[in-house]
Amino acid sequence: MTYTVVHDATEIVTGPADEDSETLQTETGAAVVIEDGTVSAVGPSAEITAEYPPANAETAVDASGNCILPGFVDSHTHALFVGDRSDEFEAKLAGKSYQEILADGGGILRTVRNVREATDGELAAQLRTHLDVMLANGTTTAEVKSGYGLDTDIELRMLAVIDRVNENHPVGLVPTFMGAHAVPDDTTSEAYTESVVTEQLPTVADQGIAEFCDVFCEADVFSVEQSRRILTAGQEHGLTPKIHADEFARLGGSQLAAELSAASADHLLQSTPEDAASLVDNGVTPTFLPGTAFGLDGEYPRLAPFEERGTIPAIATDFNPNCYAPTLGFAATLACVGVGMTPAQAIRGITERGAAALDRTDGRGTLRTGAPGDLVVLDAPTYRHLPYKYDGALVETVLKDGTVVH
Ligand code: NIG
Ligand code: FE
Repeated sequence: MTYTVVHDATEIVTGPADEDSETLQTETGAAVVIEDGTVSAVGPSAEITAEYPPANAETAVDASGNCILPGFVDSHTHALFVGDRSDEFEAKLAGKSYQEILADGGGILRTVRNVREATDGELAAQLRTHLDVMLANGTTTAEVKSGYGLDTDIELRMLAVIDRVNENHPVGLVPTFMGAHAVPDDTTSEAYTESVVTEQLPTVADQGIAEFCDVFCEADVFSVEQSRRILTAGQEHGLTPKIHADEFARLGGSQLAAELSAASADHLLQSTPEDAASLVDNGVTPTFLPGTAFGLDGEYPRLAPFEERGTIPAIATDFNPNCYAPTLGFAATLACVGVGMTPAQAIRGITERGAAALDRTDGRGTLRTGAPGDLVVLDAPTYRHLPYKYDGALVETVLKDGTVVH
């Protein structure tokens, strides 16, 4: 019998206290055992170590003084990019808006130029570098979107790079096709929508290298009608919809997500209580991206309409050159300070709610028996220290499928 045992933890967060609860279930003085990559036992350390002695374990981690959390699930990233846009950060501070930068050929379109010029090797190396930082900060599962190619060849190259890096990087990647991330400057949104639907989507589906399809449904980007066309076509090709909705303008992206039973609707800065109700009623996981809100003008999405309906949003980083913040612990801090979530809600946001936004039903984001053996050992005794110590490198050890990977 080979097993991994993490023992004598001050606190282990095993998951939500119950289905509708805002709070977490925790065990004190506890241990967790992982066999064949899966959690096989959690409970009082004395009992667990009597049955699974650390001395006989393949891997034993002494977690005295530490809190153990489920591995973090980042359900929304654009982590495959090259270059930075620090001068745009400065321009925004001087009063230029995100949309003005995009309209002038900057923003997403600038990163598209950088990505198109990069070799596959450079793209893969950059993605690995980003993932190393995410892993060191506790992320064990991350969604990564394409969307800096904006043509069939480069969108496919991005997805192929994600696939290749996923083969040998410890962070488990979930690939999303996002050909509809922006409109290339040599065409119209209508003509580009047509090419996403008739050229990009069939080719991507043919290669079987994307699980989700996402659209930036926004004023002067893709309309609700265009978004519906793209996401419906994606569904016909077997890709589950996700959507960037109600970020700058309330176009109706949330209502579209509800209509299509999307896996998630993300951003939601302008969403109304009616939008929240539609999302919850249709099983769409609302996803807040507080890092992006923080870097724009500090307007955060509203929690109350979701909370009142017993739903806690997923919290993700949206890591991209406009939000250069790949750390879910920091996103959790912003979820507390900016959005007004409790530390327990924020921890749920970056663990099992993130898994829900990716339609994962295997217990990911929890440490219950049968869940993947992905966990984070904090250099702190409780979960609330994660959002509390917000510029500290608080993650001490990370296990993926029962193996120490950081
Ligand atoms: O979610 N808004 C569209 N996509 C990203 C930004 C990507 C970029 O600016 O490069 C977002 O914020
Ligand atoms: Fe995004």
